[in-house]
Amino acid sequence: MQVFKTKKELIDTLSANVSTSKSLGLVPTMGALHKGHISLIDKANKENNTVVVSIFVNPTQFNNQEDLEKYPKTLEKDIALIKTVSDQIIIYSPSIKEIYDGNVASENYNFGELASVMEGEFRAGHFNGVGTIVEELLTSVKPNKAYFGEKDFQQLQIINKLVQLKKIPVEIIGCPIVREENGLAMSSRNERLSKKTRNDASFIYKTLQNAKIKFGTKSALEVINWVESEFLKKENFKLEYFQIAETTTLTPIEKKIKNKKYRAFIAVFVDDVRLIDNIAL
Ligand code: PAJ
Repeated sequence: MQVFKTKKELIDTLSANVSTSKSLGLVPTMGALHKGHISLIDKANKENNTVVVSIFVNPTQFNNQEDLEKYPKTLEKDIALIKTVSDQIIIYSPSIKEIYDGNVASENYNFGELASVMEGEFRAGHFNGVGTIVEELLTSVKPNKAYFGEKDFQQLQIINKLVQLKKIPVEIIGCPIVREENGLAMSSRNERLSKKTRNDASFIYKTLQNAKIKFGTKSALEVINWVESEFLKKENFKLEYFQIAETTTLTPIEKKIKNKKYRAFIAVFVDDVRLIDNIAL
């Protein structure tokens, strides 16, 4: 298992591989890996000759200092988990200095409305931070394919836009959401929930599934009102937003238009842990 801490070591190894590697896949992560991440790594491993998994807790995408400080760091466990997919996978785990070289700041991107709704509205500066690290990774590793989860569907669309804006020659592959047995979307944040609350949190996905059924016969506004009223009944759940948006532009809607595709998006605080999820309608 090769684990590199510096860009130079990584790039030297990749360029030595270049003649034999027909296709290079990249899976960017912040570590604390679970089965959701592993599904991306597994797919990348099946579709490429060489795979790089980056593990880097990117400070510029955190709008909340406490959230950054609490972010779990479990490198040894992560390496062991990646090894279960293949011991040929290359791990890139740089320091903050290696990435930002003393200037821990985001670039300002023009992502338009994509970055001003939902996560963009409630997490100021978040997508500029994501754009900065993903652009750095894509332009230094130069993968043919890069893998992102639909768990963070808005992030996936931001990255599609980034690649288009910056003309980065890479194929962005979206991967389905992996869920716990009770339906809760897998997330490193789930570890911060008590056993009971983690069980109760299945309510989020159940509500999304019911919203999907209702969207068949009701207007978007009626579905939004229904979801909001459901969460008012749950004491330890604080709904931050529930929105229905067009799948590519992510423009939130109240009325549906024929032949357009929609998704529902949700952010909820459960006992002070912020969870997000989404579903295709
Ligand atoms: P992180 O939260 O570690 O997630 C890394 C990748 O795993 C993302 O593409 C995310 O969407 C995907 N993922 C997480 N949970 C998933 C699940 N339950 N099912 C499917 N995919 C899942 O997202 C980030 O890191 C960062 O913003 C990053 C892109 C690495 C930039 O710093």
